[in-house]
Amino acid sequence: MGLLHNQFGIRHVISSAQFGREALACVFEGADDIAEKFAQGRRHEYAHALDGAVVASYFFEPSTRTRWSFESGTHRMGGSVITTENAEKFSSAVKGERLEDSVRVIGHYADAIVMRHKRTGAAELAANYAKVPVINAGDGTGEHPTQAMLDLYTIKKLRGTIDGVNIAIVGDLRLGRTVRSLAKGLCNYKKVTVHFVAPDILQVSPDVVDYLALRRVKFQKHSNINEVLADMDCIYMTRTQRERMTAEEDTATKNADTEYGIGTHNLHLMRPDQILMHPLPRNNEIEFSPLTDGRAKSVYLDDQIKAGLHVRAFLLKDLLN
Ligand code: NCD
Repeated sequence: MGLLHNQFGIRHVISSAQFGREALACVFEGADDIAEKFAQGRRHEYAHALDGAVVASYFFEPSTRTRWSFESGTHRMGGSVITTENAEKFSSAVKGERLEDSVRVIGHYADAIVMRHKRTGAAELAANYAKVPVINAGDGTGEHPTQAMLDLYTIKKLRGTIDGVNIAIVGDLRLGRTVRSLAKGLCNYKKVTVHFVAPDILQVSPDVVDYLALRRVKFQKHSNINEVLADMDCIYMTRTQRERMTAEEDTATKNADTEYGIGTHNLHLMRPDQILMHPLPRNNEIEFSPLTDGRAKSVYLDDQIKAGLHVRAFLLKDLLN
C-alpha cells in the first residue's frame, strides 16, 4: 500500500472531500517528482513503477483528457490497460448487467478501475463492490476529484500557494462536476474567496454552498463576470453541460456561454498575471483569440494538461503499490 492508504486511509478516489490539505500536499509532491523526472529525460526512473500491473479504464461517457492521461500514465510506468471504447455500448451493461457485478468481475482482471459513469454516485457504488481501488473519473453531475487535484496543483505551481486565492468559478456551476470537486478542494486552504459566476439557471447547487459555509470559506454569487473579472487571481471557466439538460433548459441557455464568457468584449479587464483555467472541452465561453493575446496566463492547453498526467500517474503508482 502506498502513502495515501498508509497515512490517510485512502484506498478509492471517489470525492474531493476525502482529501485534506496534507493528503493533497502528498499528491502534489508525488506529481512534482514525476514531472521532474519526465521533464529531465529521466523517465526510466518511473518506467517500471507499474510493472505487471493492469489498469481497467471503464468509461460510460466520452473522454479525451481524463482517460488518455490515466492510460498514458499507466503505459509510461510499465503497466498495461484494458478498456472498451464505450462501456455503455460494448460491455455487458447492454445486456442489463448490474454495475455491482461488473466491477466485482473486472477486479479479477485489473489492479485498479478508473471509471466514468453518467449516474451520480456510480463510483461510490462501484467502490463498495470492487476488490481493487476505484478511481472516479466523473460520475454524472457528482464529482470529478482527480480534475480538482490537477486544478489545485496547477494553481499551486503558478502562484506558489493556494492560500489567499481569489478565484472566480464561472459557467455551468449546477451541472458541472468539476465545479463541485474544485469548490470542495479549495476549502482546505486559508483565506480563499470563491466567486460563483453564472446566470441564475446555472448557479451553483445548494450542497456546494452548504459545504463552503460549514467550513467558513468566503463565497459570493454573481450573474455578470465583468463585475469580478479585474479582481481575480484565477478564473476557472466551464462549458454549458448541454448533454445533461432538458430541452427547455437547453433552449433557455442557448447563448449563455458567450454571455458569461471571456472574449474581445471584456478581455481589456484582464491582467497578465491572472490565471485563466478550464477543465476543457471549451465551447464559446473562451473566445479563441484570447489564448494568443497574452492578456492572462491561459493554462488550459498546457499546464493543466501536464498536471493531469503527473497527478494521475502519481495516484496510480501510489494506490497500486
Ligand atoms: C470535464 C468532465 O468530464 O466533467 N471534462 C474533463 O474531464 N476535463 C468537464 C466537461 O466535460 O465539461
